[in-house]
Amino acid sequence: MSTLAWYRYGPEVDDGVPPLVLLHAFPLDARMWALTISAMPGVPVLTIDAPGFGASPPLEGGLEEYADAVAGTLAAAGVTRAVVAGLSMGGYTLLALVERHPGLLAGVGLLDTKATVDPPQGRANRLQMAEAALGEQGAQVVAPMIDTLLGQTPPEEVRTEVSRWLTQAPPSAIAWAQRAMAARPDRLAALRQLDVPGLVLRGAQDATAGLADHQAMATALGTDVVEVDGAGHLSAVESPHQVATALADLHARAR
Ligand code: MLT
Repeated sequence: MSTLAWYRYGPEVDDGVPPLVLLHAFPLDARMWALTISAMPGVPVLTIDAPGFGASPPLEGGLEEYADAVAGTLAAAGVTRAVVAGLSMGGYTLLALVERHPGLLAGVGLLDTKATVDPPQGRANRLQMAEAALGEQGAQVVAPMIDTLLGQTPPEEVRTEVSRWLTQAPPSAIAWAQRAMAARPDRLAALRQLDVPGLVLRGAQDATAGLADHQAMATALGTDVVEVDGAGHLSAVESPHQVATALADLHARAR
């Protein structure tokens, strides 16, 4: 099983205290969590780069193999139980973990994501972007995403930083991730089977994952949707303090 690049923050993990594992959005890497992690210094955190992004090697397969690699990476780091939170693509991967490795999960956080499949046009757009990324356009294919990732009035420095991350996305990883996301099934049923503390959170200005998507996941988990005012799809980058408070609360409920 492949091992992915991972990073540890905060206090040493005591026996019996599961770390909080954070899975990032497309087409970024684990750096997107930096401000959120700084805002919860008392929580033991692990972040992981998705296959082909950041320092992780590429992977054969889709989000299911990514989820297996997360479980394998945690096992190699000595972690057998974790609170896992994923934002957008990270959430899709967490849902695959819910289906394939439920015993690993002490709690789940689903941020700016959805458990349902894409409509046919959405899937076709993903496959088109995968092709374009592997052609002449390369990482330029993701540059326009800056307008859908952020809310209506992001601070200029946030816009600049996220734009910079977009230019750094490896074209082969863009293509892999888009094909993997296009192939994901509906996983609401798997979520209904899970009986651990949950958090469902969205930026109130998220134009990619809507309130109804979040309400469906919250109902499946028996919780409510937390909305973060003033943030768009990348809630953890735009409103790191509010997201850190919600994640620290999830961790406290799950430990
Ligand atoms: C993400 O932020 O991970 C992407 O918006 C996911 C997607 O394209 O559905």
